[in-house]
Amino acid sequence: MTSPKPMYERPHVPIPPPGPKSRALLEKEKRLLYSAWSADKTVPFILKAKRGWLLEDVDGNRYLDMVTGWASTPLGARYEPVLKASVEALWESGGVECVSYITDYRVLALAEKLIAIAPPNMTRVAPDTTGTEAVEASLRLARAATGRYFIITFHGSFHGGNYTAGTAGPTSPDVGKGLREYVHGFIHVPYPTCYRCPFGQTYPQCGLTCLRYIEDVILRYEVAPEQIAGVLFEPIQGENGVQIPPDEWMQGLYAMAQKYGWVLIDDEVQTGFGRTGKMWAIEHWPDVQVDLMPLAKSLSGGALPIAAVLGTEETMTADDELYLGGTFAWQPAACAGALAGIEALEQERVLENVAELERIAREVMLPWRETYALVGDVRIKGTYIAVEFVRDRERKTPAVDEAAAIHQTAVRKGLVGIYENGLWWIRLLPALNMPPELFRHGLTLLEEAIADVERRAA
Ligand SMILES: Cc1ncc(COP(=O)(O)O)c(C=O)c1O
Repeated sequence: MTSPKPMYERPHVPIPPPGPKSRALLEKEKRLLYSAWSADKTVPFILKAKRGWLLEDVDGNRYLDMVTGWASTPLGARYEPVLKASVEALWESGGVECVSYITDYRVLALAEKLIAIAPPNMTRVAPDTTGTEAVEASLRLARAATGRYFIITFHGSFHGGNYTAGTAGPTSPDVGKGLREYVHGFIHVPYPTCYRCPFGQTYPQCGLTCLRYIEDVILRYEVAPEQIAGVLFEPIQGENGVQIPPDEWMQGLYAMAQKYGWVLIDDEVQTGFGRTGKMWAIEHWPDVQVDLMPLAKSLSGGALPIAAVLGTEETMTADDELYLGGTFAWQPAACAGALAGIEALEQERVLENVAELERIAREVMLPWRETYALVGDVRIKGTYIAVEFVRDRERKTPAVDEAAAIHQTAVRKGLVGIYENGLWWIRLLPALNMPPELFRHGLTLLEEAIADVERRAA
């Protein structure tokens, strides 16, 4: 009996990447772009086209896309209602407009929609173009609302790449290099990275040492609570390998913010719009109320760059002289795409699909912690997924070379996830509407890659 034909086009990699065309272009890339651009590359091909859940390289190979434009094409590529809305708006509006000067009607339609789906205490929105800008805008809003200066942020967070956001959250010293020496006003404290507790403890016996550190160390020795404007945090750390805080930690942070009058800035740039199984990741903690939410990536619906800050009446009306955003913020065509994307999220039961993908991920991936010596930890929340590789389980020695080899092997088999040089985890960011059958296939490819590398290492 022959097996049934797959319903969806599958990845197919007949030419081991980089194929000849990719190789020539990768060489050119090294010459044409600034050096760090190429030094950081871990994807061994050049992209030609994206369709649905697949990437196609210039040599004709097809890969399953579990990068999704770094979580920016939540509905897969060429999602028709979004692209159509954007193209039509581009044509009707005539092109670029500086909407902070001449307001396009689509700006108001999107603002209204965002406020309608926001947590109930959020009543206003500030337009931006990138997540980095939205984070910077949030910091300015928090400082304006409180008249205070310091911001607490967390080790391992990522909030963007400019001087301010790059200083707020460098995931590693190299990300913060050349930035931190110039920008002041941030206090970095440990995040609850429980698989590798910075205090060498285990949750829940630890009693949340990482949270107590803020009061016991920072407020005691560094700054008084009334000098602190707010706390900038990722509700689940993404770039740091999907670190999911314990419920008590989030509740404790909220209680502290209430006690001292700190503005809570919940960076939902990567987690927002359903990525973790809820519209906003902070909804996993229903008792917690935040004041500002920077958004970007999935807000685009997969069409054009767009970002925003959602905020409370108090934080958004404290200063009438703040200029945020810029010429390109909230282009009419980007607004139309974003609106169509949000409508699709609501109408197409996308969150139900995320729940199904999460169920499959748990069923398939959690047992890897027993099956494969290289797998130290698997962390999953919705479609926010990371596998951490270790050389030995006892000491949790990072398996950097092995993680790199697993990534390269997976790509050759047809799965592209996120692997960055020097790190020892692979992240998966599938489209929220990826068909479960394709997602399962992608996990099989990753598992085969882990098994291959483990066999080679033995
Ligand atoms: C949590 C978080 N905040 C902010 C940013 C910066 O967004 P952008 O790259 O759009 O500037 C990112 C980007 O990955 C992110 O993950």
